[in-house]
Amino acid sequence: MEDRSDLSRLMPLLQAADRVVASTGSGISAESGVPTFRGKDGLWKTYRAEELATPMAFEHNPHLVWEWYDWRRQLMAAKEPNAGHRVLAEWAESFPSFSLITQNIDGLHAKAGSRNILELHGNIWKLRCTQEGTLTENYDVPLEEMPPLCSQCGSLLRPHVVWFGESLDMDILRQSTQLSSDCDIMFVVGTSAIVQPAASLPMAALEAGAKIVEVNPEPTPLTPHAHFSFRGKAGEILPQINDSLKQVRKIGLPR
Ligand code: OAD
Repeated sequence: MEDRSDLSRLMPLLQAADRVVASTGSGISAESGVPTFRGKDGLWKTYRAEELATPMAFEHNPHLVWEWYDWRRQLMAAKEPNAGHRVLAEWAESFPSFSLITQNIDGLHAKAGSRNILELHGNIWKLRCTQEGTLTENYDVPLEEMPPLCSQCGSLLRPHVVWFGESLDMDILRQSTQLSSDCDIMFVVGTSAIVQPAASLPMAALEAGAKIVEVNPEPTPLTPHAHFSFRGKAGEILPQINDSLKQVRKIGLPR
């Protein structure tokens, strides 16, 4: 059987790839100290999602929901991107086309220098007016006003994140699906690959004939379908892949 963690088999494919997509989940930020959702110390083990991350919870007790997001913002504000984020930021320049899709709301990809990120689940640093839908960036930690109100109309602001029972932004989802269906290689990094519709993106890539490279210390439902499976931390595996790619390019193997 083929070794699915063989870098020397991945290199020629990566070197020849024109369109590369990376789709990330909370695992890429784990080494920065941001908790993941599932697993031993996962956020959803400590807090009941339905009490805090639903439109009903917000309607019922906006103050409580905002306290939780304010606490998470304070935790995240102190975190720095890790080597995994940095490699993906660098890859914007490494391929003719590189796209980054994330389920993360922590803003660490942008802090690492990535641009045009498709944030499927929103961004914790953006606040949205519940009346007008306008977005404002806000990096105050803690927030000055609890709960925060719209400076234009005085209505309640909410975190610009997708809650349980809500739909994703159709435009972002459409673009993400299109890019996944049109790529040569898709990296799927640090996600349990069970939350829809994000979990369907690698499937769309697979159906369209792309190679799937999974980076995760644990197996996921995607693992049996992946052409490459690197069982390890994103902050270690992605730099290894990047170093090998640079090496191969330096010695000038033909594309
Ligand atoms: P999960 O908590 O479900 O999965 C995290 C994944 O990261 C697991 O598969 C871990 O094995 C893996 N992991 C842990 N440490 C890692 C590391 N250092 N390097 C690489 N991988 C590592 O998080 P997500 O898949 O992101 O949605 O969760 C998806 C969505 O579920 C979230 O966006 C959130 C949550 O409910 C919303 O809030 C809408």
